[in-house]
Amino acid sequence: MSTPSDAQRMEKIVSLCKRRGFIFQSSEIYGGLNGAWDYGPLGVELKRNLKNYWWRIMVHERDDVVGMDGAILTHPAVLKASGHVEGFSDPMIDCRTCKAHLRADQLVDKKGVRQCPNCGGKDLTEARQFNLMFETHVGASAEESSVAYLRPETAQSIFTQFKNVLEVSRKKLPFGIAQIGKAFRNEINPRNFTFRSREFEQMELEYFCRPEQGMELLEYWKEERLKFYENIGLSRASLNVLNVPDEERAFYSKGTYDIEYHFPFGRQELEGVAYRTDYDLSQHQKASGKSLEYFAEETKERFIPHVVEPSAGVDRTVLALICEAYSEDQAPNDKREMESRIVLRFSPRMAPIKCAVFPLLKNKEQLVAKAKEIVALLRPHMTVFYDESGAIGRRYRRQDEIGTPFGVTVDFETLGEKDPALRNTVTLRDRDSMKQERVSIGDLVNFLSSRIR
Ligand code: GAP
Repeated sequence: MSTPSDAQRMEKIVSLCKRRGFIFQSSEIYGGLNGAWDYGPLGVELKRNLKNYWWRIMVHERDDVVGMDGAILTHPAVLKASGHVEGFSDPMIDCRTCKAHLRADQLVDKKGVRQCPNCGGKDLTEARQFNLMFETHVGASAEESSVAYLRPETAQSIFTQFKNVLEVSRKKLPFGIAQIGKAFRNEINPRNFTFRSREFEQMELEYFCRPEQGMELLEYWKEERLKFYENIGLSRASLNVLNVPDEERAFYSKGTYDIEYHFPFGRQELEGVAYRTDYDLSQHQKASGKSLEYFAEETKERFIPHVVEPSAGVDRTVLALICEAYSEDQAPNDKREMESRIVLRFSPRMAPIKCAVFPLLKNKEQLVAKAKEIVALLRPHMTVFYDESGAIGRRYRRQDEIGTPFGVTVDFETLGEKDPALRNTVTLRDRDSMKQERVSIGDLVNFLSSRIR
């Protein structure tokens, strides 16, 4: 259960995200579109850093994984075969008192009586199945034969392209196909900011293997994924691994772990790691009539590979990164008085802006020129922000609030005016410790790059 302070913390996070340009309500000037979000200038950088790092770890740094980028519009036959047309639904209940549409699991149970969580009403409809897929029509006619769906997960195009990718990549089992992209679900109740949205992004790997390797690879991928989350700055203590019990697993799965994060609104799933057996490829082989078998040259066997799937949400992970990073502490202002500051303690790897550059005074041409030189020096290597307006303490505070890990100040020492030995050195400030050290401009790129990677 979330406590009042958790709720306040979440409110502050949502407000910061809007104020500083991480995440905005989609179509806001028209009243907003529920369940859709737009990422602003800082949000898009954070999201890209996450996706790029996932791609680097899951594809580029491995010999056994290749990538693909499938279409969002999906043939209905694909989603019939996968079971989505029949079974991808949530039980929905309406409250007749306040007219809310609710997922059955959202009802509150008070002494054995089910109530609406919004108004406490007890006049509820029977549960009915509500399919979560967005249906659309392809081409000019809107008949049944023109129906297509916006994909509800990226996984299905990986399964349907399995044979093509296998042939062109000439991989041997075990090997994986990775994809990052948008998915759409008409969630009954989008909520908790971006956590449950109707349009969101997934980062999915389908790792194909021999049947006897499935359970071992399930353990392997759970551990790899936990390492990943720690490497982007989510502490192990904030993560939880749920071994999904038999009765809650998809019927075809032999084992599933949910990797959960302690959000201010409770412990919730970030990623599912599932051993899906040979269910998906078998279904598509049956429905399409095309062989999706693998031929093992060593043993001359033909069989349908099994698959282990680590499937993560981009938006949920971005939200977890922001929640984990958000903190408030005390810092001295320009008059050396302590005041409270908001700081996003992103790991430098994920931070949207890596380094801010400040001339101590904006009306000193030489300071400004030197600061701009440093911006040009750093820009090919990292995201940099130049700021000359306001007192230096205020400028630090603005960067703390968006999680910039390093600040470089060009002062009179840099120009060699006080001590010639300090010419071409700058003050480098660390966001978290607020410690400052003198660094030579020539060493800046290496110094910062080593901390960012
Ligand atoms: N291919 C398997 C699959 O799609 P899932 O558990 O339904 O499994 C995987 O989704 C991940 O996608 C979830 O762990 C979550 O991070 C993200 N996700 C699912 N539905 C979401 C939604 N409505 N809003 C945001 N992220 C969502």
